[in-house]
Amino acid sequence: MLAYTYVKQGDFQLLEKPRPALRGPGDAVVRVTLASICTSDLHIKHGFVPRAVPGVTVGHELVGVVEETGAAVTKVKPGDRVAVNVETFCGQCFFCKSGWVNNCTDPNGGWALGCRIDGGQAEFVRVPHADQGLDIIPETVTDRQALFVGDLLSTGYWAAQISEIRAGDTVLIIGAGPTGLCTLQCVQLYRPGKIILCEKDPARRAFARGCCPNAVVTDPEHAAQCVAEHSAHGGADAVIEAAGGEDTFELAWRCARPNAVVTVAAMYDRPQILPLPDMYGKNLIFKTGGVDGCHCDHILELIAEGKLNTETLITHTYPLRDIARAYECFENRADGVFKVAVAP
Ligand SMILES: NC(=O)c1ccc[n+]([C@@H]2O[C@H](COP(=O)([O-])OP(=O)(O)OC[C@H]3O[C@@H](n4cnc5c(N)ncnc54)[C@H](O)[C@@H]3O)[C@@H](O)[C@H]2O)c1
Ligand SMILES: [Zn+2]
Ligand SMILES: [Zn+2]
Repeated sequence: MLAYTYVKQGDFQLLEKPRPALRGPGDAVVRVTLASICTSDLHIKHGFVPRAVPGVTVGHELVGVVEETGAAVTKVKPGDRVAVNVETFCGQCFFCKSGWVNNCTDPNGGWALGCRIDGGQAEFVRVPHADQGLDIIPETVTDRQALFVGDLLSTGYWAAQISEIRAGDTVLIIGAGPTGLCTLQCVQLYRPGKIILCEKDPARRAFARGCCPNAVVTDPEHAAQCVAEHSAHGGADAVIEAAGGEDTFELAWRCARPNAVVTVAAMYDRPQILPLPDMYGKNLIFKTGGVDGCHCDHILELIAEGKLNTETLITHTYPLRDIARAYECFENRADGVFKVAVAP
């Protein structure tokens, strides 16, 4: 089968590999029907993910059809159409039982798929802990609607959930990339009074205005003023940082009102400064980290009910044999691209 492979730093290649087989009783083999390219795949390509194993098939955001299941798998059976979770987790350890599946202590726990074990930019993928990592897609939900469930939508859902948003609140989201826009949709579930979206790239601001007509879209220069105008208590009630830019951590806490929750979903490529003397008395609550992606079943229900819809984020679709071109387009933000789907 064809599999897009991290050969070495800077080098991804479409290679012919043997079809994956079951290795343990909790495994499933899934025939991939649609996969996507994530910013994290580019991080692997450029060597920013030291855990990534050379030779691994990349891809961690995908949907497919169950082909085979191990003896211990009870949730899914061959023929089921499923969304695949970016995180593999055991469901048994202390962290899993607390809902912190990102910190699962299993050797395959956390983000393994398409990083440490073969992923889904391929025709088939083996998914360990299939009872935790696969969710059946409702009949009324298409593959394209479900494509982001396991990664981007899980991240948005997690970020919105931990931000303690109450009805009527003003929420600031920094970054209108795929993570920011999926987060925005999940934030809407909490019925905030105002959502402000701050993005530095004019093309991305225009794209965001098109798909999020209810949000106030601003740029970094005007963000503080815009937040002040739309807040009842001198700042945003919740801030979600989904940009990971040069000054976006500072922007996040400066725009927050006293006692606000500041959620950092972004991953930075360098340390950030937490100037405690400057923020003394603001009594902020910071939440950070990697997504706990264990609510895919509920996310799929929300899609089926029409409360989440991220299909419009897919601007380009390529066949798997042209995946190198798909990467080129995504990486160079060419041709108005936002998210790319790849169909084996
Ligand atoms: N916590 C998690 O589990 C998790 C999951 C997925 C992604 N992420 C992280 O979330 C971040 C966003 O991911 P993405 O895929 O959307 O990436 P992306 O690079 O496509 O989006 C980031 C956006 O932020 C914008 N931006 C940069 N600097 C800015 C500034 N100063 N002001 C306003 N906007 C600015 C960029 O123009 C871009 O549109 C990344 O850091 C990624 O690693 C975290
Ligand atoms: Zn990803
Ligand atoms: Zn676990």
